[in-house]
Amino acid sequence: MLITIPEVFTPEEAESIRQRLDATEWLDGKVTAGYQSAKAKNNLQLAENHPLAIELGDLIVSRLTQHPLFMSAALPRKVFPPLFNRYESGQSFGFHIDNAVRSLSGSRERVRTDLSSTLFFTPPEDYDGGELIIRDTYGTQAIKLPAGHMVLYPGTSLHKVMPVTRGVRISSFFWTQSLIREDSQRTLLFDMDNAIQRLYQTGADEEAIIQLTGTYHNLIRHWSEV
Ligand code: NI
Repeated sequence: MLITIPEVFTPEEAESIRQRLDATEWLDGKVTAGYQSAKAKNNLQLAENHPLAIELGDLIVSRLTQHPLFMSAALPRKVFPPLFNRYESGQSFGFHIDNAVRSLSGSRERVRTDLSSTLFFTPPEDYDGGELIIRDTYGTQAIKLPAGHMVLYPGTSLHKVMPVTRGVRISSFFWTQSLIREDSQRTLLFDMDNAIQRLYQTGADEEAIIQLTGTYHNLIRHWSEV
């Protein structure tokens, strides 16, 4: 399942974050790439322990854990601290699949990358190119979202970033380990949660809603890893 999480930040908040990121110092993006992806990767990245990356990363995670759509779609167990990248002057990132497991620097904690996210900070009209191309079960999608919006997609997907031929594209990217490892099971739960919310809003039979809500939680109990 690939979905857009709108308005993680308002356009004004996204602009203020973009300006702060734009003014800071960037490193070669190959630092976090695996062997195969290092060959495909040509961009800039903020150091993982950069104070601004830590501050903004915490802000992103706190926004997302209050975002009902993210919580319902991702059923997060652990979120890898968000990273930040920058593409300009023709930079791009060729097709690759992200590493399956990421270690948190300075800790023994590891995150399985069930879900990948890209949160856009530059308005699409400010740069040319830079589409995130994702190949999933249903074909290839080109993603370029308004500032403050985020795409959430399965970590198993092949993806790339097209060359940025005008302007600068600044985004955050990170991974989530879900309580539900399998995308197909997570999608069923997401659809069921949406249907239950609709039934609530339309004042459907209360006993049926209680029963369905119970089934939803019992499926999570059945499938989850904690
Ligand atoms: Ni990637």
